[in-house]
Amino acid sequence: MRIGILGSGLMGGKLGTLFARAGHEVIFSYARSEAKLKRLARKAGGKARAGTPRDASECDAVLLAVHWSRIDDVLKRAGSLSGKVVVTCSMPMNADNTKLVVAHTSSGAEKLARKIPRARVVAAFGTVPSEVFFDVYAARRKAGRPSLVYYGDDRKSKNVAAGLIRDAGFDPVDAGPLRMARFAEPFTMLIAQLAYERRKSARLAYRFERFG
Ligand SMILES: NC(=O)c1ccc[n+]([C@@H]2O[C@H](COP(=O)([O-])OP(=O)(O)OC[C@H]3O[C@@H](n4cnc5c(N)ncnc54)[C@H](OP(=O)(O)O)[C@@H]3O)[C@@H](O)[C@H]2O)c1
Repeated sequence: MRIGILGSGLMGGKLGTLFARAGHEVIFSYARSEAKLKRLARKAGGKARAGTPRDASECDAVLLAVHWSRIDDVLKRAGSLSGKVVVTCSMPMNADNTKLVVAHTSSGAEKLARKIPRARVVAAFGTVPSEVFFDVYAARRKAGRPSLVYYGDDRKSKNVAAGLIRDAGFDPVDAGPLRMARFAEPFTMLIAQLAYERRKSARLAYRFERFG
């Protein structure tokens, strides 16, 4: 699959690298330096390359991985996302990443979907810290994969997200419609607290187990 990365920082850079290693054609875009995008593509190997947000938006699926304050700018630069699968890991955080600016009665994922009503929005990957991605990928052939929730209202985009989650080494857990982001986004604040608590490792994932 061709995957466009909109926002090639901690999340986009690592996930794009793993998608390329899993055999996808990846375009890294939207960083402040063109050299960084080229370096990421070179290190990812496979069929990865650097491009513009417009190039990224022409792929089969797009990963949206920017700070909440950059959403409007990156969407403007990407152009039409009509009919596109848009996987978002973006959290609706304030400038210093200390609190959610949308919560309880709506969510970042729902607000984003309203900005691009013709796109097929699904939320995935945003509930774990980027620090754990390479560990999870390296352990993908072992038993007991960590879980990763995804949620959305569009069947096609949910299938794409589930495939990418598996490619990255997680066990996809369908958490239902996009409005589940109202619960998943605050849950992510809890995960962040556990990950970045002093003197603890941020290489943290989670696993749900059903007994019966
Ligand atoms: N980091 C995590 O562990 C984590 C976990 C869960 C969810 N999230 C969410 O995922 C999203 C992405 O987080 P992140 O940590 O990957 O952020 P990040 O490292 O800051 O990456 C954001 C990307 O946007 C680019 N960017 C910022 N301003 C720009 C501008 N003016 N012009 C062009 N490019 C610009 C950055 O460029 P540069 O590369 O040049 O800096 C970077 O490539 C956020 O919404 C965050 O809340 C993050």
